[in-house]
Formats: sequence, C-alpha cells, structure tokens
Amino acid sequence: MGLEDRDALRVLHDAFNPDDPDLVHRFYTHWFALDVSVRDLFPPEMDGQRAAFAHALRWVFGELVAQRADEPVAFLAQLGRDHRKYGVLPAHYDTLRRALYATLRSCLSEAWSGAVERAADQSLNLITGVMSGAAESDDGPAWWDATVIEQSRVSRDLAVVRVQPDRPLHFHAGQYLNVHVPQCPRRWRFLSPAIPPDAGGGGIEFHVRVVPGGIVSNAIVCETRPGDRWRLSSPHGGLRVDRDGGDVLMVAGSTGLAPLRALIMELSRYAENPRVHLFFGARYLCELYDLRTLWQIAAHNPWLSVSPVSEYNRDPSWAADYPDVSPPRGLHVRQTGRLPDVVTKYGGWGDRQILISGGPAMIRATKAALIAKGAPPERIQHDPLSR
Ligand SMILES: Cc1cc2nc3c(=O)[nH]c(=O)nc-3n(C[C@H](O)[C@H](O)[C@H](O)COP(=O)(O)OP(=O)(O)OC[C@H]3O[C@@H](n4cnc5c(N)ncnc54)[C@H](O)[C@@H]3O)c2cc1C
Ligand code: HEM
Repeated sequence: MGLEDRDALRVLHDAFNPDDPDLVHRFYTHWFALDVSVRDLFPPEMDGQRAAFAHALRWVFGELVAQRADEPVAFLAQLGRDHRKYGVLPAHYDTLRRALYATLRSCLSEAWSGAVERAADQSLNLITGVMSGAAESDDGPAWWDATVIEQSRVSRDLAVVRVQPDRPLHFHAGQYLNVHVPQCPRRWRFLSPAIPPDAGGGGIEFHVRVVPGGIVSNAIVCETRPGDRWRLSSPHGGLRVDRDGGDVLMVAGSTGLAPLRALIMELSRYAENPRVHLFFGARYLCELYDLRTLWQIAAHNPWLSVSPVSEYNRDPSWAADYPDVSPPRGLHVRQTGRLPDVVTKYGGWGDRQILISGGPAMIRATKAALIAKGAPPERIQHDPLSR
C-alpha cells in the first residue's frame, strides 16, 4: 500500500502539527548529530527554519493524503533546485531521510504500525528523491552573485539598494527573491525587486525597511556599501495584474510598495491599462519615501492614481535629516489613519483586482477589513506572510 494508504499518510501528516513543534525540534537535533556537516549550512537561530520545514512537509503529506501528486512533486522539485544555493549535496538528503524516519518512528510510538512504516519509507524516498533528483538534473545557475552599486538611506529606517547581477536574472514584475548579504552569513531573507526586469540584464533595485531587532534588515540599511557582494536566488511568487481583468486596487505598507511599484512600472509600458488606485501608507509622511517617483508616473499615466496615507499627521523631528518626499501640490490628497481603515472608507472594492503588500500584520488587517466590507477573497492577492 504505502503511498496509497491514506490512513497511514494521515498519521504522518498529523505528526507535523504546528502547535506541537517537538517532533521537528528532535528531528533537527538528530540530523545534526548524525551528519555534522549539515549544521554549518544553517543560521544560528532555527525557529523560523523549523516552522518552514514543518509547514512544507505538512502541506506535502496533506496532498498525498488527498492522492494528489502533481503539485507536491512540482513544489519539491522547485525546492530541491532552490536548495542548491544553500550548498546542499545529495548525501545530505540521505542523512535527512534516515534522521526523519528515525524521529517519526520514535515520536509516533504506538501509532507506528507496519502500514505507517511503509508509508513513511515510501513517502520519504519520494520527497528526498524528487528534491535531490531535480537538483542534480538542473544545469541552470544555483544562484546569482551581484554587486551593490548604490545604497541610499531615504529615511531613518529605509534604504534603497541597487545591485548589478553578474549575469542576467530573469523574473517577472511582482516576484520576490531570496537574498544573502555578506554581513549576515547563512541568513537568507526575501526581498522584492522594485523595478521590472531589464531585458538587457540590468540592475535590480530593492527597498528595505528596518524591522525592530531585525538582523538582516538592520545590516542592509545601516551597513551595506557599494562593492558588497550579494547572492540572489531564483524568483518566487506570483503577484500579477491581469490587464483584461478589470480595475485594480493596490495597498502598499512601507517597502511593501516594491513589488507593486514594479508592476505599475511594467504597466506604464502600455498605452492603455485598467484603472489602478494605489494607497501607499507609512507611519509618518516623511516615510513615504517614493512619493515623488509615483507622482511622476501618475503625471504621465492617467490610469494611475495614488493616495498617500500616514498614521500620524505630523513628521518627527528626525525627518529634517532625510530627503523631503512631498511631491508638488495638487495631484494627491493625503489621508491620515491606518491603511485598513482608510482603504475601506470607500467600501469593499469588490469589483477590483486587489493586491496587498507589506508586513504580515498589515496584510492580515487590510485583507480582513476588505472582506468584511464585501470584497471576494479570491480577488485578493498577496505574497506569503512568512517564508
Ligand atoms: C515574500 C516576502 C517579500 C518581502 N519583501 C521585502 C522587501 O521588499 N523589503 C523589505 O524590507 N522586506 C521584505 N520582506 C521582509 C524580509 O524578508 C525580512 O523578513 C525582514 O527584512 C526582517 O528580516 P530581519 O532579518 O531584519 O529580521 P529577523 O531578525 O528575521 O526578525 C526580527 C523580528 O522581526 C519580526 N519580523 C520579521 N519580518 C518582519 C516583517 N516583515 N514585519 C514585521 N516584523 C517582522 C520577526 O518575527 C522577529 O521578531 C519580505 C518578506 C516576504 C515573506
Ligand atoms: C525533506 C526535504 C526538505 C524540505 C521539505 C526542506 C524545506 C525547507 C524549507 C521550506 C526552507 C525555507 C526556505 C526555502 O524555501 O528555501 C528550507 C530552508 C533551508 N533548508 Fe531545507 N528542506 C529539505 C531538505 C534540506 C536538506 C537535505 C538540506 C541540507 C543541509 C537543507 C538545508 C536548508 C537550509 C540551509 C535552509 C536555509 C535556512 C535559513 O535560511 O534559515 N534542507 N528548507
């Protein structure tokens, strides 16, 4: 039976319980003891990694329980190809499989029957086999190295960074990349290009905001300098505008602007577009770092309108140390309040394609407020809330 035994597969699915991380904790301890070469590939703090690993496997086992193979196999193949950038070798999959099998057997104790053993054996062979097979058979680049050519501090907590990849990196406007910076070895973070890809293999621009206590965002905003060498992954994500799909609402919190700005710039290559209304929000007006560019795009593209939104209606004293972001008067009416409240003052925007981008709390709150006002959830797009 094995991969056809839905009851046995369900036992394995349930083992990756997000409310009980004990199994995944034990698995990594076991794996690092079994294969000492593995620990050095991971960052010191493992909480996010354990959660991402459990989330991925729970989803895969859920699909196997439903006897769906196409999507999980495609997902695992992509994950395996992407894992090459971490320095993963075929032998690591073998030790992972053995460690995970042993941990499942010991943690499931009474529930570990002959049927579960067969399902575990076959599913772990499938999962590790697909990942390592896809990694080995891909002769495309495992990562892209890039040089920082410019870093500008556009506000106290915000930087715009331009990098030049050594070779062309193809992505779509609206996608995001996994990024590794030299100040933070082994700590990869997602960032969204803020300009569309350049067919000539040109530079990529990122907008980065310091997260309080955040290791990588602080390093990028405070320590990154021209000449730094960054490492970039293949692109992920699918935020998109369907040019035949009706008018568009975009809601950007702080650097959540980046992928939406790339999509807007992409649209500006066409003469005719659906109407796009962008709400761009931050705590202070001085943190709406890109208003001037948005103003310039809107001035030449009548399909775009922009509403600047700030939580507070006065700037802090440190605003004077950074560039003035306010565009010429007239085109935009600034509003004060939190994005979910300001956006839904105009209703649920149910007839629009809706794209939300920003921190996880802002995305959750804006999505809930729009749905409460009648927006159909299936019309709302956003990136994953964490990795
Ligand atoms: C799909 C995607 C695209 C992203 N694109 C961008 C981008 O273009 N520009 C950008 O600046 N950031 C972006 N991020 C966020 C970025 O990947 C990092 O999570 C963020 O920079 C924090 O990393 P850190 O190492 O500084 O913080 P960590 O050291 O990892 O975390 C420090 C603390 O901050 C919390 N935290 C982590 N991320 C956030 C967050 N986004 N908002 C609030 N609290 C957080 C953590 O829970 C932790 O408590 C994106 C995230 C995702 C998932
Ligand atoms: C069952 C097989 C595996 C699954 C399901 C899995 C899943 C994941 C997921 C979901 C992530 C989160 C980020 C990303 O998508 O890249 C991740 C990161 C990572 N994985 Fe795996 N992985 C597997 C096997 C391996 C193996 C064999 C190695 C070898 C050492 C490995 C090393 C890493 C490293 C180094 C990271 C980055 C950690 C970080 O940036 O914090 N993984 N993995």
